[in-house]
Amino acid sequence: MSSIVLFGPPGAGKGTQAERITEKTGFPQVSTGDMLRAAVKAGTETGLLAKSFMEAGQLVPDEVIIDLIQQRITHPDAAHGVMFDGFPRTIPQAEALATITEVSHVIAIEVPDERIVDRICGRYSCAGCGNVYHDTFNPAPEGGCECGKWEEKRRADDNADTVMSRLAAYHEQTSPLAGWYEREGIFHRINGDRPIDAITEDILTALN
Ligand code: AP5
Repeated sequence: MSSIVLFGPPGAGKGTQAERITEKTGFPQVSTGDMLRAAVKAGTETGLLAKSFMEAGQLVPDEVIIDLIQQRITHPDAAHGVMFDGFPRTIPQAEALATITEVSHVIAIEVPDERIVDRICGRYSCAGCGNVYHDTFNPAPEGGCECGKWEEKRRADDNADTVMSRLAAYHEQTSPLAGWYEREGIFHRINGDRPIDAITEDILTALN
C-alpha cells in the first residue's frame, strides 16, 4: 500500500483538488476534516470531543486523529492506497502514518496567507453531494449543482475570526512537516494561487 498526502494551509484547495485527483488515480479521498464533521453531526464521543477544538480553529488532539485514521484504513477501498487530505498535520501524526503506509508523494498546495481569508469566507458546498464552491472564484451552476439534491451549506468554522487561528495552527504545528518530507525527497511544491485546472494539471504531472 502506497499513499498520497495533500498538504497545505486551510483553504489552499486540498478538498477541491482531492475530488479531481481521486477521479484520475482511483485512490479514495480520506479527509480528517470531513470525518470529524461527520462525527460532530452524529454526536459520537469523538465528535463531542472534537467540536470545541474545531470551533476554536485549533487542531484536534493527535490520539483522536490517529485512531480515526487507523480505523479508516481498514476499509476495503483503502487496500491499494489512499489520498490523505488534511492529514498528517503534526510530527506525531506523520510518525504514526509512517507505521501504517508508505507515502509516495506529498503534494504541497501553496497559497499566500492574504488570499486565504477570501477563500474560506466565500466557500459553500452542496449538502446533497459534497461538491465545494466559492461565491466568486468557483460558483455553483445557476439554480444549484447538478447532483439533483442541491442544498447550500456553509461550514461553522468558515469565518474571519476562526480562520486566523487555523492559519496560526498551520504555521506553528503543520508547516514544520515540510522539512520532514523534504528530507525524504517526496515533497512537491505546487503554486496554488492560480486557476483550479492549472493546479490539477501540475499535481497530475508530479504524480507521474
Ligand atoms: P479541514 O476540514 O481539513 O480544513 P482545512 O485544512 O482548514 O482545509 P479546508 O477544508 O478549509 O480547505 P481546503 O484546502 O480543502 O480548500 P477547499 O478546496 O475547500 O479541518 C477542519 C478542522 O478539523 C481543523 O481546523 C481542525 O480543527 C480539525 N482537523 C482536521 N484534520 C485534522 C488533523 N489531521 N489533525 C488535527 N485536527 C484536524 O477550497 C477553499 C475555497 O477556495 C473553496 O470555496 C474553493 O471553491 C476555493 N478554491 C479552491 N481552489 C481555488 C483556486 N485555485 N482559486 C480560487 N479559489 C479556489
